[in-house]
Parts: sequence; C-alpha cells; structure tokens
Amino acid sequence: MTKLNTPCFVLDTARLRKNLETANRVRGEAGCKVLLATKAFAMPAAFPLMRDYLDGTTASGEHEAIMGHEEFGKEVHVYSPAYTEDEVRRLTKVAQHIYFNSAEQLARFGDIARDAGCHVGLRVNPGYSNATLGGDLYNPTAPTSRFGEVPEKLSSVDWSGVDIFHVHALCESLHEGSVGLIEYVSEHFAPYIAQVKAVNFGGGHFLNKPGYNVDKLITAIKAFRARFGVEVILEPGAGLVVNTGELHATVLALHWNAMDLAILDASASTHMPDVLEVPYRPDVIGAGQPGEHPNTYRFGGKTCMTGDIIGDYSFEKPLAPGDELIFTDQMHYAFVKTNTFNGTPLANLAIRWEDGRVEMISDFGYDEFRRRLGR
Ligand SMILES: Cc1ncc(COP(=O)(O)O)c(C=O)c1O
Repeated sequence: MTKLNTPCFVLDTARLRKNLETANRVRGEAGCKVLLATKAFAMPAAFPLMRDYLDGTTASGEHEAIMGHEEFGKEVHVYSPAYTEDEVRRLTKVAQHIYFNSAEQLARFGDIARDAGCHVGLRVNPGYSNATLGGDLYNPTAPTSRFGEVPEKLSSVDWSGVDIFHVHALCESLHEGSVGLIEYVSEHFAPYIAQVKAVNFGGGHFLNKPGYNVDKLITAIKAFRARFGVEVILEPGAGLVVNTGELHATVLALHWNAMDLAILDASASTHMPDVLEVPYRPDVIGAGQPGEHPNTYRFGGKTCMTGDIIGDYSFEKPLAPGDELIFTDQMHYAFVKTNTFNGTPLANLAIRWEDGRVEMISDFGYDEFRRRLGR
C-alpha cells in the first residue's frame, strides 16, 4: 500500500459505488433526478465514477458551478442566497439551472437567466423542517432564516417566469424527514406547483444512513409526481458519501496535564472544523469511550487554539508517537472545509480504488498556505 502522507483523507470507492447505487435506484424507481451537492463533497478525481449514477451537480455559487461544469459535466444547477448581476451573467455560461433566493432577486435577474436559455428556480422557505443536527445552526427554516422566499410572499411572485419550485429544508434527515417534506409541500403549495415544470426537494436526505427507508422515499416521490405531473429533483450531498472514507492521522507527541493528552498532525480547527462547529466527536477505529479501555487520551491538534480538541478516547494499549489513528466517516463537509490556520498543512487527499490500490491525489504543502495570503 502507498505510504500515506498524514493527515490524509482517504475515499473508498467500493463504498462510494454502493452509496451511488442507492441514488441510482431512487432515480430509476421514483423517476426523479439526483444531483450531487458539491458543497459537501467535491473531489474531481472521483467524478468519472460518480457520473454514471447521477444527473449532475448542484453548486453553492460560481466557483462550484465552474467546477461542476468543467469536471463533472452533465447538468449544472446553482443556488446562492444572493447574486450580483455580473455573477448571474457568468453563471449562464456554465449552469443550465439557476435558482434565486427571493422574489426580489428573481425580479432583478430572472430575465438574464431566462434570456440566456437557463431554467429558472425559486427557493421557497416551506416552514417545515425536521433538521435536528446542531439545533438551529443547520435548520434552513429556523426563525429569521435568510434562505428562501417566505410563503406569505408567494402569491405576489410572477410564476410565469419560474420553472422550478425549490425547497431545501432538511439536514441529515431519515425518510421521515424526506417524506414529511414532500407531503408538506404537496399539501401547502399546490397552487404554485401547478405552475412550474419541476420541484427540487433540496438536500439533507440521508439516503445511505442505516435506518433510512429508501422505499418510503420512492413511494412519496411517485405519489407526488402522479399528483402534479412535474419532474422531481433531489440534491443530496452528505447522503451520497456518508461512510465512504476516513481521515488518517499520526500521533506526534504525548503530553500530560491532569490527564493524558495526545497531540496529532490532524486538527479539529483546521481539518475537521465540524467537530467544533456542530459539535460532535468523530469515531476512531479501535478506540472506545473515555474510561472504557485502560488508556484514555484527549486528542488535540497542533494549532494555538486551546479549544482545538477532537475528543476523548480510550485504548487497550498505550499510544506512542508515530501511531496512526483513523477517524471514520470523514468525507462529507470535511476536506471541503479545511484551512491553513497557523500555517498548518492541508490534509492530503487519497483514493482507495476498488482493486485495493491507494492513490495519493494531492501533495499539499507550503504553496497552498502561501498562495492564499496574496502577493
Ligand atoms: C440548497 C442546498 N442543497 C443541497 C444541500 C446538501 O445538503 P446535504 O449535504 O445535507 O444533503 C445543501 C446543504 O446545505 C443546500 O444548502
């Protein structure tokens, strides 16, 4: 096996393919489109494999849209809470589906998109969510949320200029959330859906999470399509890549201050920012809860931030400098959010192909740090 230059994220393509097969089944059986939300997972080297199972990508803005266009191909959708006119004009060159966040953005820029031949979407805040991760931090419909037009204003929208009714209201939701959203939209927004060609039910469908009943999603989409005769689109990110890869790290030093500490080459604040933001404690292969095994350590990174703590873990045997640690389920919202705070090197990227070969696809070093600091 190729020696990993840690910290390093490793994508497992066999597991990815299995997840994509679920998405493909939804596409086939429900008769809907499934897009990859590249905000969650953007690894062009894996796109050739993903392309066969998906209809395209959805972007959070211009740069992701360019990448989707250049690296994935197929359909490019884009949504942003706000665009400038120039951005919309440039987006029409790379995306075929442009979604606006409000009646106001739609009125200002909708014609630019339409005149360029793009399909136009309007994001609506449906007032329904079952997102629980991180409380209101990840609930797109939380009070005063800036995402999507509010139901009270929909009657004043010129729906003749809208092709796609868009809602994104879920986060790591099981089928109850997906089905609940589809039924809620069906019940509360029928007059508007009657005027569009497609409905995009956003992301947050945790399709490949154990416990997600894909058949219930398929049934709900089929019922929705039968009632309205519209195209249905899903745009999951996390749900396509959950449990498809790990972050490999190395113990650099052991330390003691009232408890055993291990300082790693991977850090919460630079390599797994969601550990601090959500917050959550990532699992480590072979480790238990603190106190479960005889040797408990608190893991921290090399940055100067006192709170750069990954969590507490216990092991059968004491750790030693040079030991490798593997944090599980680190593909979604992980490597796309890394940073170089303190000059910390970015975590590298690698792919384990289905024949077992591990290929490094990056060799990040000083250049990535220096480039983002300007001339
Ligand atoms: C508009 C939109 N679509 C899709 C997604 C993807 O969501 P997830 O990765 O939870 O499936 C997001 C995530 O924030 C989003 O904001």
